[in-house]
Amino acid sequence: MKDISHIVSKAPKSGIRKLFDLAVGRSDVISLGIGQPDFQTPELIIQGNVDALLKNITRYAPTRGVPELLKLIESKLNKANNIQVNWKENIMLTNGGSQAITLAYASIFNPGDELIISSPNFVSYFYCGLFFGVKVIEVERQEDFSPNIEQIKKSITDKTKAILISSPNNPTGHALKLKELQEIIDIVIENDLYLISDEVYENYIFEGLKHTSAASLNGMNERTITVNAMSKLFSATGFRLGYVVASKKIVDLMEKYHQYTVAGTNHAAQYGFIEALKMDLEFFNKIWESFNTRRLFVYNRLREIGFDVVKPLGAFYIMPSTKKFNINGTIFSQNIMKEYAVAIVPGSIFGSFSDDMIRISYATELRKLEEAMDRIEKFVKNL
Ligand SMILES: Cc1ncc(COP(=O)(O)O)c(C=O)c1O
Repeated sequence: MKDISHIVSKAPKSGIRKLFDLAVGRSDVISLGIGQPDFQTPELIIQGNVDALLKNITRYAPTRGVPELLKLIESKLNKANNIQVNWKENIMLTNGGSQAITLAYASIFNPGDELIISSPNFVSYFYCGLFFGVKVIEVERQEDFSPNIEQIKKSITDKTKAILISSPNNPTGHALKLKELQEIIDIVIENDLYLISDEVYENYIFEGLKHTSAASLNGMNERTITVNAMSKLFSATGFRLGYVVASKKIVDLMEKYHQYTVAGTNHAAQYGFIEALKMDLEFFNKIWESFNTRRLFVYNRLREIGFDVVKPLGAFYIMPSTKKFNINGTIFSQNIMKEYAVAIVPGSIFGSFSDDMIRISYATELRKLEEAMDRIEKFVKNL
């Protein structure tokens, strides 16, 4: 048979999926690998989806999304993010934040263009680059995981089309301070670039920091493509709904790509998202508290065990170094799974500078986190 796609073949099987393969058939595994919150999707959201199905909303949805939902997103962007948009022109509903990222790449890049990202960073950014022929330029983060502004400046070439930021960040837990964001924005404007801003963890931010949306800052509304989703805030990763916000010109292009590749998003699920956006955000306060407690517990415990680790400022991940124990992240992850049944993602899947790191998700109940930390301690003691 003739060979199949060389391009897609270059992308490895998801490192996270591989980890789960190792866990198959074992009941003792504690997963610190998962990128989804552990609380129940609020009942109102589920009901919204179910009611829509019972009303036979089972046909294609409008390509860009149901108008009522787009209007609610417009109002959310206005109030929560200070981003001024028009729902008819600037918003497209997507299949999760993941497809919002795909649409961002599809709409601004030509093969050979360069995209600058701080590394380590979320896996999809690398492989969407591969699929669209974009050269992804990784700029190593500083020790505290903040962006290396000087190095970003040095990485600009005449092929640079965009910078991508993802704050609060998966996998590092870094959240951009306003000054850091402004420095990146200055580079974007000075070099006439686009900015892709992935904000799916905007509500998971700690240490008194406030999330600022890049598109709300001076001169950035037209240049920014904002990626967001219902997945993390509403613990609704399976709804597969997200949205992308950009200038009219870009969203018009996205619509074409969307039309010919997925023809829209799940129609009835959009009514669940409508209920979600009508909810008072108060519901999240208790959840935030719980994630904050877990964050501090895991950080303190890892330090106690002896890890070099940066205190996370956002999202629900922490990324300790394994260097001190003379073991790389991949071997650490494989062996702790085999010997102590703890699923931890190796740092190497998040780019070129994190072989000696592991990513721990603390989106797991405290009792399990305590047990997992005890197991990690035993594993490390025997190294
Ligand atoms: C930084 C980041 N962006 C986007 C996504 C994709 O989100 P979704 O599940 O809505 O596709 C994830 C998922 O883990 C993520 O961590």
